[in-house]
Amino acid sequence: MTHMVLEVKQSLDERCNQILRNMEASLTARDRVGIQDFVLLDAYTSESAFLDNLRKRFHENLIYTYIGTLLVSVNPYKELDIYSKKQMDTYMGVNFFELPPHIYALADNVFRTMQSEFNNHFILISGESGAGKTEASKKILQFYAVSCPSTKLLNNVRDRLLLSNPVLEAFGNAKTLKNDNSSRFGKYMDIQFDHQGGAVGGHILSYLLEKSRVVHQNHGERNFHIFYQLVEGGEEDLLRWLGLERNCQHYSYLVQGGCAKVSSINDKSDWRMVQKALSVIEFNESDIEHLFGIIASVLHLGNIKFVADVRGYASLNNNQEMHWVSKLLGIPAQVLQQGLTHRKIEAKAEEVFSPFSVDHAVYARDALAKAIYGRTFNWLVNKINESLANKDSSRKTVIGLLDIYGFEVFNVNSFEQFCINYCNEKLQQLFIQLTLKSEQEEYEMEGIEWEPVPYFNNKIICDLVEEKHRGIISLLDEECLRPGEATDLTLLEKMEETIGGHPHFVTHKLADQKTRKTLERGDFRLLHYAGEVTYCVVGFLDKNNDLLYRNGKEVMRQSKNAIIKHCFPSTEPDSKRRPETVVTQFKSSLVGLTEILMSKEPWYVRCIKPNEAKQPGRFDDVLVRHQVKYLGLMEHLRVRRAGFAYRRKYDIFLQRYKPLCPDTWPNWKGTAAEGVRCLIKHLGYKPDEYKMGRSKIFIRHPRTLFATEDAFQVCKHKLATRIQAKYKGYRVKGDYQKQRDAATKIENCWRGIMARKEREKRAWAVKVIKKFIKGFITRNQPACNDNSEYLAYVRQNYLTRLRENLPKTVLEKDSWLTPPPIMKEASQLLKKLYIRHMVGKYVQGITPQRKAQLVLKAQTSSMFKGKKENYPFSVCRPFVDTRIGAEDINIKVLQMIQHEHIKYSVPVVKYDRNGFRPRLRQLIFTQEAAYLVEEAKIKQRIDYISLKGVSVSNLSDNFLILHVTCDDIKQKGDLVLQCDYLFEALTKLSVIANKQNYIKVVQGSVRFDIQPGREGFVDFKSGQESMVYRAKNGHLMVESTRTKSR
Ligand SMILES: Nc1ncnc2c1ncn2[C@@H]1O[C@H](COP(=O)(O)OP(=O)(O)OP(=O)(O)O)[C@@H](O)[C@H]1O
Ligand SMILES: [Mg+2]
Repeated sequence: MTHMVLEVKQSLDERCNQILRNMEASLTARDRVGIQDFVLLDAYTSESAFLDNLRKRFHENLIYTYIGTLLVSVNPYKELDIYSKKQMDTYMGVNFFELPPHIYALADNVFRTMQSEFNNHFILISGESGAGKTEASKKILQFYAVSCPSTKLLNNVRDRLLLSNPVLEAFGNAKTLKNDNSSRFGKYMDIQFDHQGGAVGGHILSYLLEKSRVVHQNHGERNFHIFYQLVEGGEEDLLRWLGLERNCQHYSYLVQGGCAKVSSINDKSDWRMVQKALSVIEFNESDIEHLFGIIASVLHLGNIKFVADVRGYASLNNNQEMHWVSKLLGIPAQVLQQGLTHRKIEAKAEEVFSPFSVDHAVYARDALAKAIYGRTFNWLVNKINESLANKDSSRKTVIGLLDIYGFEVFNVNSFEQFCINYCNEKLQQLFIQLTLKSEQEEYEMEGIEWEPVPYFNNKIICDLVEEKHRGIISLLDEECLRPGEATDLTLLEKMEETIGGHPHFVTHKLADQKTRKTLERGDFRLLHYAGEVTYCVVGFLDKNNDLLYRNGKEVMRQSKNAIIKHCFPSTEPDSKRRPETVVTQFKSSLVGLTEILMSKEPWYVRCIKPNEAKQPGRFDDVLVRHQVKYLGLMEHLRVRRAGFAYRRKYDIFLQRYKPLCPDTWPNWKGTAAEGVRCLIKHLGYKPDEYKMGRSKIFIRHPRTLFATEDAFQVCKHKLATRIQAKYKGYRVKGDYQKQRDAATKIENCWRGIMARKEREKRAWAVKVIKKFIKGFITRNQPACNDNSEYLAYVRQNYLTRLRENLPKTVLEKDSWLTPPPIMKEASQLLKKLYIRHMVGKYVQGITPQRKAQLVLKAQTSSMFKGKKENYPFSVCRPFVDTRIGAEDINIKVLQMIQHEHIKYSVPVVKYDRNGFRPRLRQLIFTQEAAYLVEEAKIKQRIDYISLKGVSVSNLSDNFLILHVTCDDIKQKGDLVLQCDYLFEALTKLSVIANKQNYIKVVQGSVRFDIQPGREGFVDFKSGQESMVYRAKNGHLMVESTRTKSR
């Protein structure tokens, strides 16, 4: 903190030094260019010294000089190269006193104060006619147009703000004797800024347009510019359409001053400018058409001549001009003609048209022209306001520019000058209020030692004009409204009666001898703050009444011209009650203006006119001295010199600058005054630089404040960075906290969800288990609700298990999974199906050889299975095609039986029928018969037809007995054979001979025929050992070992 304070102090010192250097620089240049700020003038009480300084600078083309923050501007009457973009840049954002005085410096200062304090301001530009007020206001506007932040949208507003000027000037300015571009209306313009300083909108208030100029101009003066611009600059087509000629001399409303052409005015180029401006501020073609229709109508109206008919009444005989007005305003000619020559009188319930005299008709015509123009002007202002309006409702700050007609003194001064000068009195009063009076009152109130500065308070003149019942305005209104024959002269008399003794009022009658010489009988003179003005009372009542005959309004209401329609609404009350008089309206509008201004911070530009001849380089001492005096500049200077440049309430000052002192930052606990004392002590203010009032601190020199402000700016950025960092930290922390809270919340929610899910799951599980158990308990009951699911589960479970445990081969068919009771039937069906399926698969998979083999084996099985003891052992022994190859059969035998096709042959042991001696033989089966062969001999042929049967025992022996039909004794009998391949051989035989049923399995013994009539027996039995022998009974005994069945 101390480091920061040191830095701030350093920069403060630097700043002070720089300002001092600047001031010194300006002091050294003093002889050459005078003094930039009158506050630095040594002889500050001397009017001559003041004038000298102004003159010196004026001759050096230095037209601007300050009195503190007030800007004095002297009209140079020549173009100076001080308004370039470069100059604007130079003055942008620079402290007021750092550069030579300039209107840009003031504009910039106002803008920046507005920005930093976020409040409203106004710049009051005053001075007499031709002093340069309008020019000054335009320069300010141009400066803002260039210096304010710009966007496309803002540029739009900016263009409209800028271009509203040429339009209003064309319609509201005119050449007068005092000024070739004199504003004939008062203008207050608000420029609205958003919080970033962008100009976002505007609003214009206009005050009392000098309408009388439309119908009458003094010598050397012109009507409003727009008429000349139209006639001079308007395109041929347009003029033709409007029925106009390109000759101002042709129009009686344009020639009364005798100076339609002025060298300083280029109506043609101004016309082009106005055209461009109208398009920018959103006037569409029909608006423009209607607008110029009206302007042309006014010119035509002016040319309408009335002739007296035989009775002396005004008449219009097929008047060309009248037809043009009728066409342009879209009013039936008949109606218009009637309106121009007659007046409507309401007598009781009747309406009577009374004809005008020629004079009356001219009067009514002029009244109509004035009314049309005046109302159109107001419409124009409203239209411009529509285009400048900012619809955004966000808060804006404004800078108001008041460019209102200056104090005016002509040879002949009329009602308008009276109003204008009254307005200037009011503004002077405001100025006094806001500067001299309030300033001094403030010092007193704050208990600051102070020597009062005397000044002229113009309240007395304001009262003279506006006081209720006694003031000139009241008297004027009274005279206008009272019944009976009121004239301008009766007004004068009334004034003499009522305010005759007033020190600021004099008339011919009231004046002393000397003064009387300078006054006409119809004159009255007011001693304004700015000097004497003699007003000619003629026309006061008339102008104040501003009467437009009632049927004049009615005629206008029938117009097809949209603007006229708008200006003469049918809703306008045209009761017999009179509308407010002009001066009363004006007075109220000034009250409104004062209120607007009082709510804003004031800034002043005082414009001075150096000579009456509008010549550059001429400085008329008397003229300038007079203006210096009545503008109150000397008093202002004295108050400034004696006073303090800056004051602020303690709390506001402390609030702004407290960061500059460690004791007051960030919060001061004590009173604001103590805080400020502590702060300025820290900043090192010298005793003569400031004073402490009751509620405010007063700082004498701007430089002290600027130094403090600069220190604040430096400090502000550092503070801003710190605050930013803190804030960012705070934000991030907040964000983190938020995230953490959110995470916890989400976690909780998630846990909740999970817990609920778990609970649901468990509840479900309990239900399922319960159901399962119930199902289990009732599993054997008929299907019902309780067990249906369980049974379904059991079914599914069994099927699933069964699928995984199916027998892999046909042989495993007994390994079928035991089914639960409810699946018994299904299981059997499935088993059957499956086995079938396996068999099918197996069958499909086997070769034809194997199939043949299996067919044989099946055959064997059908013959022996369960019948013969040793059958099971044969199952695994595959059958072969033959046991003896053809090569092992004797060739002779082969030759003998080959034709029968040998199907099978096997070695056998043949037991003789007598004695049972065993002999090795070959047993061969052909297609036809079985042969017993011994080497080359066929020992026996048994035709299959003669084969009666085959017997085998049920035991494990390999004996077979072939029974043959034996009719012949020579024939051999039955054969007793032993064959190792018994099953194979018998199966083959049964197949070849087709003798399945012939094979018999017998128990005990077999009887056989040795030869017809002689029988033998073979006995079979089981024994310890396999043996074959001839038993004592002569039977062949075949003993075989008992085999265990597998
Ligand atoms: N700063 C200036 N630089 C050059 N010429 C200027 C300047 N100010 C004023 N003038 C000249 O003086 C003329 C009159 O100025 P301006 O119209 O601003 O007077 P005014 O104070 O508005 O008068 P009025 O009260 O009649 O409207 C301008 O037309 C211009 O020629
Ligand atoms: Mg002006």
